[in-house]
Amino acid sequence: MTEDILRIRGGKPLCGEITVQGAKNSALPLMAAALLCDGETVLHRVPQLSDVYAASRILNRLGCRCRAEGNTVTIRYSGSGSYEIPDADMRAMRSSIMFLGPILGRMRRCTLSMPGGCELGPRPIDLHLAAMRQMGVKIREEEGRIVCTAEKLRGTGIRLKLPSVGVTENVIMAAVCAEGETVLINAAREPEIVDLARFLNQCGAKITGAGESTVVISGGSPLTGTEYAVMPDRIAAVTYLCAGAAAGGSVSLHGAVPAHIESCTQVLEAAGCSITEQGGVLTLKRTDRLKAVPYIETMPYPEFPTDAQALISAVLCTAKGRSIIEETIFDSRFRHVGALLEMGADIRVSGKKAEINGVPGLHGAAVAATDLRGGAAMAVAAFAAEGETDLRALHHLDRGYEHFAETFHSLGGDVRRCRFSAKERENQSLGA
Ligand code: UD1
Repeated sequence: MTEDILRIRGGKPLCGEITVQGAKNSALPLMAAALLCDGETVLHRVPQLSDVYAASRILNRLGCRCRAEGNTVTIRYSGSGSYEIPDADMRAMRSSIMFLGPILGRMRRCTLSMPGGCELGPRPIDLHLAAMRQMGVKIREEEGRIVCTAEKLRGTGIRLKLPSVGVTENVIMAAVCAEGETVLINAAREPEIVDLARFLNQCGAKITGAGESTVVISGGSPLTGTEYAVMPDRIAAVTYLCAGAAAGGSVSLHGAVPAHIESCTQVLEAAGCSITEQGGVLTLKRTDRLKAVPYIETMPYPEFPTDAQALISAVLCTAKGRSIIEETIFDSRFRHVGALLEMGADIRVSGKKAEINGVPGLHGAAVAATDLRGGAAMAVAAFAAEGETDLRALHHLDRGYEHFAETFHSLGGDVRRCRFSAKERENQSLGA
């Protein structure tokens, strides 16, 4: 058994230019939506990530031919295949729930299991199922599996209890195949929803209002595959900006969409970073010590995203003064804090609030990623920290970051991905 670790030697500024990868959270629903299209769908700028590979496996099982060549993925539905998502796939990628709408749209039946408890706390799917029920889907439980069937899908009015990203996507994907009009109220407004609607409209769908709270979908138009480039990843963009803020230096991003990350750049500016945009390049500079940001609350887009919460926590560890971060979206999203404490941070978590008292500096430590963004936050802290950090459990990072170590290399970061056998790791921890 071997294990990869990232060995980061921090404490020096990051300086350089990088191009932002395609968005994981857009590529996955776009791949799922390709199931609804006749003919071939060609997606460009698809990041090479384990979640994308999991989505390809699911598509192949559902009867698609899904091929990847670099960052281009080609998908063609063959006309027949399974309508089931096996337990293993539901576990491998918890967001496989986003296949529910497209499978029902295409096949009128779908069997899947609960995504299960996860690193961010319980991830219920009640709102997904309630919305599908409203569209005429019958749902029952059989031997622990959820069996969904529909004679036909019908357009209807759906009001979401909370603006869930995944539910909004599932409703849109089912509604394009439904009879009549669906009016979705209190929809999520994330840019990934706009990307999905834009893609589907290019395939022949009739969707208006994506990016606003009310989305109207006129169902029943035939959908034909198209060629489309996935939007840039706003959370990956924020990750590299946060690393520049924490370690100091100058980080320039090509391809980021400044409007998508405004709530984050505003916080980084409030902490003392300078952020400018010129000719499509977004540059963050940080020279002096950062200052605390009194209060940050995670909220649905366009407010501060939950996915950037751990990253900004890592930045604020060394900011002068006291910062409070309140997590309002997920129940259990402070699991990265333990590692930051190991690195010398002063953070107190109480319920949904974290109080960060800025320390003058962090030091390297041996830590393990707890989840995707939590792991990235540990890397951000490691670049700011004096000495060496060994970051383990990289499978979390591989779900969302393409060429993570190489990207930091281009920013001048001292980082290596090393492979150790179990024996070597044991010797290391014994100091041999
Ligand atoms: C998506 C993103 C994820 C991000 C999250 C919030 C993808 C692949 N993932 O996840 O990175 O952190 O949005 O911006 O795009 N909820 C229910 N019942 C449901 C569904 C959701 O109670 O049936 C709750 C969740 O527990 C959570 C809240 O709604 O508290 C928001 O979750 P949601 O917007 O659905 O997140 P995802 O779509 O899973």
